[in-house]
Amino acid sequence: MSQIVALTGASGFIGGVLATRLREKGFRVRALLRSHTHQQCLEDIGVEVIKGNLDDGQAINRMLQGCQTFIHCAGAIRGRNKQDFFPANISSISHFIKTCRTIRPHPKIILISSLAAREPSLSHYAWSKREGELTLSREAPDLPWVIFRPPAVYGPNDQSLRPLFKLMKLGIGVQLGSDNSRFSLIHVEDFVRAVIDWVKTEGPTGYIYEIDDGFPGGHSWAEVFQSGERPIRLRLRLPPTALYVAATLNEKVSRLLGYLPLLTKGKVAELLHPNWVCDTRETVKILNWQPRISLKSGLRQLETSDNV
Ligand SMILES: NC(=O)c1ccc[n+]([C@@H]2O[C@H](COP(=O)([O-])OP(=O)(O)OC[C@H]3O[C@@H](n4cnc5c(N)ncnc54)[C@H](OP(=O)(O)O)[C@@H]3O)[C@@H](O)[C@H]2O)c1
Repeated sequence: MSQIVALTGASGFIGGVLATRLREKGFRVRALLRSHTHQQCLEDIGVEVIKGNLDDGQAINRMLQGCQTFIHCAGAIRGRNKQDFFPANISSISHFIKTCRTIRPHPKIILISSLAAREPSLSHYAWSKREGELTLSREAPDLPWVIFRPPAVYGPNDQSLRPLFKLMKLGIGVQLGSDNSRFSLIHVEDFVRAVIDWVKTEGPTGYIYEIDDGFPGGHSWAEVFQSGERPIRLRLRLPPTALYVAATLNEKVSRLLGYLPLLTKGKVAELLHPNWVCDTRETVKILNWQPRISLKSGLRQLETSDNV
């Protein structure tokens, strides 16, 4: 019998790749979706779709019954205040834990958090990711769980870094942090492979894994621009004041037009933070995992694909 993996966030960038690769490796995948948007393409690859929100007890129960692994990959990444992040990133975890506890044997729980959780004071998003981690460790000390903390993840269909990479293809480098800031990156296929390796090998539980592309000490903006296929002819350094003004305006407009903003003052504080470099020592030692896609080859793939 193939292993059943229950998954949230399958309609998103990372969750979509996770669902696809899990199916290719022969897992049965049950995905909880709140809308119809991606239902058909997930069903086309053999994913069993369960309709419901992250607080819908009956739907959660149907998704988790008989599963061996549960991956919580849904996450709110846009919002103006804590309440915008709370349901997906914090309270949903309590609902899932309650149901996981009723299932025997207990499924392994994988929480897709974020490196941002290391600095919860910077933004509502970072706060919510840390609180989500604390909710899991506090409410499920007896359950087998691990947390993955990816840095910025890129790849085909990513909406966040894609505009920057598109501009690099035109020879324009837009720098969103200082010259001295350093940050880790990871290609979505490498990240998903690490998560699936853990599902397959039943590694030790109770750990937080930071994971990146293996570039020592993380990247600087200059190194990112040097990694693209095209030489950068125009380098634009956006000063912090300009970023804060743009974020303030975006928050006001989002209130008027009723959308959830990605660029907020909190996001700017994250962008300006000087150190987003993963500490991968535990991950490499415990998971025995190595990245395969360097930034250079990842960008080459993106630049030649139709998606960028
Ligand atoms: N991408 C990155 O660089 C990155 C870096 C670090 C951590 N992460 C974490 O990785 C996870 C996936 O991120 P992603 O980049 O794949 O984001 P994404 O493309 O925006 O996908 C987010 C997923 O979460 C679901 N979701 C969001 N809010 C929800 C809610 N209130 N109720 C139900 N479902 C909800 C979305 O469903 P709908 O399609 O219905 O909206 C979608 O399936 C998140 O937890 C994020 O914090 C991402």
